[in-house]
Amino acid sequence: MVKNLHKGALVSPADDGRFLWSERSGLMTDSEGLIVDVGDADALKAAFPEAHVIDHGVGIMMPGFIDAHVHFPQYLMAGSHGESLLAWLERYTFPAEIECADTQYAQALAVQFLDQLVHQGTTAAFIFGVSYYGAMEALIRQLKSRRMAAVTGNVWMDRHGPEQLLKSATESMDISERLIKQLEGDVCFGILPRFVPTCSSDALTRCGDLLSQYPNARLQSHLGETQAEVSWVKELHPDAEDYTAVYERSGLLGPRTSFAHGIYLTEREWRALAGTETQLVHCPTANLFLGSGLFNYRRAKDAGVQVGLGTDVGAGTSLCMLETLKACYQVQRLQGGSLSVEELVSMATLGSAQVLGMEDRIGSLEVGKRADFNVLRPAAGSWLAQRWARCESLEERVFASMILGGANDIAETWISGHQVSVSSER
Ligand code: GUN
Ligand code: ZN
Repeated sequence: MVKNLHKGALVSPADDGRFLWSERSGLMTDSEGLIVDVGDADALKAAFPEAHVIDHGVGIMMPGFIDAHVHFPQYLMAGSHGESLLAWLERYTFPAEIECADTQYAQALAVQFLDQLVHQGTTAAFIFGVSYYGAMEALIRQLKSRRMAAVTGNVWMDRHGPEQLLKSATESMDISERLIKQLEGDVCFGILPRFVPTCSSDALTRCGDLLSQYPNARLQSHLGETQAEVSWVKELHPDAEDYTAVYERSGLLGPRTSFAHGIYLTEREWRALAGTETQLVHCPTANLFLGSGLFNYRRAKDAGVQVGLGTDVGAGTSLCMLETLKACYQVQRLQGGSLSVEELVSMATLGSAQVLGMEDRIGSLEVGKRADFNVLRPAAGSWLAQRWARCESLEERVFASMILGGANDIAETWISGHQVSVSSER
């Protein structure tokens, strides 16, 4: 059985809460694409003399990035100008999603989208889909052929949107059940009610039924992204205590549920999320782009709510998780807070893995997990390469890479032990 011994610096969160920093480490992977050992490179070479050595030099091996919230049908409408959330949905987003009714178009879009994710060093994602069966089937086929770990599914919406995009709860249920049958291994099913304004109470309740029926499925939606959205939910559900309560009474909260955003939440809502182990996904570039508001990471931590990191493309302005981490840091600084390098790296890897429910398989470079990793090494002669030369620690190099770097500084991406992308700049 051929083993690869990758040598380089290593940075990773660990399942036991520690954080691994090593200037020189070995990462041993097997032909199944799993990590079988991590430790001193020379000792590993002595123990496995037959291993094929791949020396990454000054490159930093870190877990592949995990995008915990991204919309596949919005890939080609990102960067659409000048609207806040609800107008942006009507004017740009829904029309872009309607294009996916054409399965051939959706198939080509899935290829472009996943190629680009991998190029950015993202090895797994929670992918918000679209309401059409054919488009989702095409995306799932692509995910499987690339051995990517992912959660995805059809989006449910049965009101307050264009006719072409709406499906009755019965139709969405039927599409979901057909898709669930195609999922296996590390591609898991996502139950995706778009958000309260576009879902009837019947649709939400049936999403809850599906969640209890399929113990491996995850549920994701949007919550408290803008004030106008919160007011609309209040008008639609005057009897509900708050926005979260609408999801709650349909049985949608729990450890297999995550919500993108969570900027505008009351004390009661924080308690409800924490008490049910419901998770949040912070999407800083989307929040800045739409002018939605500033997510309070410390509030989430104080409440005991787990947070992953998402790009939320097409509201997000980059598929690159390094750039998303920069925005994440800046959003906390704007509120007088900060985030350590360990907190930042953890949010984009193990924290997001928890949102996908795959923390046993991905999110850290530890024995038994999938060999999904990036090698961070700035392009020769680049500003970041010059900055690295002045850094005094691994931690400094990683932080500078988040603030000054981007996809071109990810020299290699490995998924399940196979190299899948080399930066086009090399
Ligand atoms: N809320 C409901 N749908 C969407 C969407 O597609 N993007 C964002 N950012 N928020 C939403
Ligand atoms: Zn979103």
